[in-house]
Amino acid sequence: MRVAIIGSTGQLGQDLMWVFGEEAIGFTHQDLDVTDGVGVASAMHSLRPDWVINTAAFHRVDDCEINPTLAFAVNALGAFNVSRAASSVGAGVVFFSTDYVFGGQDRERDHPYEEGDYPQPLNVYGVSKAAGEQLVMQANARHVVVRSAGLYGTSTSRKGWTFPELMLNKARTDGLVRVVTDQVLSPTFTADLAQKTRELVERDATGVFHLTNAGECSWFEFAQGVFDLAGVEVEIEPIETGEAQRRAHRPSYSALTTVRAEEVRVSPLRSWKEALGAYLQAKGLG
Ligand SMILES: NC(=O)c1ccc[n+]([C@@H]2O[C@H](COP(=O)([O-])OP(=O)(O)OC[C@H]3O[C@@H](n4cnc5c(N)ncnc54)[C@H](OP(=O)(O)O)[C@@H]3O)[C@@H](O)[C@H]2O)c1
Repeated sequence: MRVAIIGSTGQLGQDLMWVFGEEAIGFTHQDLDVTDGVGVASAMHSLRPDWVINTAAFHRVDDCEINPTLAFAVNALGAFNVSRAASSVGAGVVFFSTDYVFGGQDRERDHPYEEGDYPQPLNVYGVSKAAGEQLVMQANARHVVVRSAGLYGTSTSRKGWTFPELMLNKARTDGLVRVVTDQVLSPTFTADLAQKTRELVERDATGVFHLTNAGECSWFEFAQGVFDLAGVEVEIEPIETGEAQRRAHRPSYSALTTVRAEEVRVSPLRSWKEALGAYLQAKGLG
């Protein structure tokens, strides 16, 4: 099997490169820009992969509000370019989407979203990803859309930090962290996500799949988990979203669960706390 991985130096991209090993051919942003439809088609025609895994995204949620043109160019049209190019060489495509496609319909929601739930995003990033999902599915019958959330990985991403690293750094420098209690999600370790993505590809799966570490927590509880597992004592101040003064609206509840993974014999991911412990150990922080 030959697998093209687009965005191969990102935090998920690097774990996918590791999980697919010698089967993987990586494309960095410099090698290939998904907004260049001709370039993407030409690269796929030269390579003739069996699968194309697209991790490329413009996902700085607040910046997407300021630059919706770029958000749609990368997350929607870019995703379409990749899906169509894969289809034209008979390859399957994997597209990563987000829990932020949800949140708009039910502010009182308190149970996880399943694959069949209707997306209704609250912000430009979510809308661009929901559009990307539709375009990917329309352009290639062999599609896998993976919705995940709150990603953190051991590789160094250009983002520079993961949420657990940010918390530990702040604790060290400020001795105090302020974290929101009113946004609940299912944070996910990219090593686990990459492994399960490989399983979906091996099963020749088709459709939408939710792949997150099991369970849910608020960002406050996530931070608390980091400090507990890392053995760091720090004052954590609970705050509400309004106090954080962010440009984009964010869902107050966007935990995901899967009913579809089991249908293709892919077992659920371990709990978010177990995965966080494994991440901290791998980074030498736990
Ligand atoms: N991060 C999260 O919490 C989260 C949550 C849910 C879903 N997701 C989705 O999961 C996927 C992977 O996220 P991640 O956290 O691994 O992101 P990441 O670390 O930022 O990696 C994204 C990769 O894509 C590259 N890229 C950006 N724009 C590109 C373009 N126009 N053409 C080609 N490559 C481009 C980036 O390169 P440069 O850095 O060099 O630009 C980077 O290597 C994304 O689709 C994201 O939307 C992420």
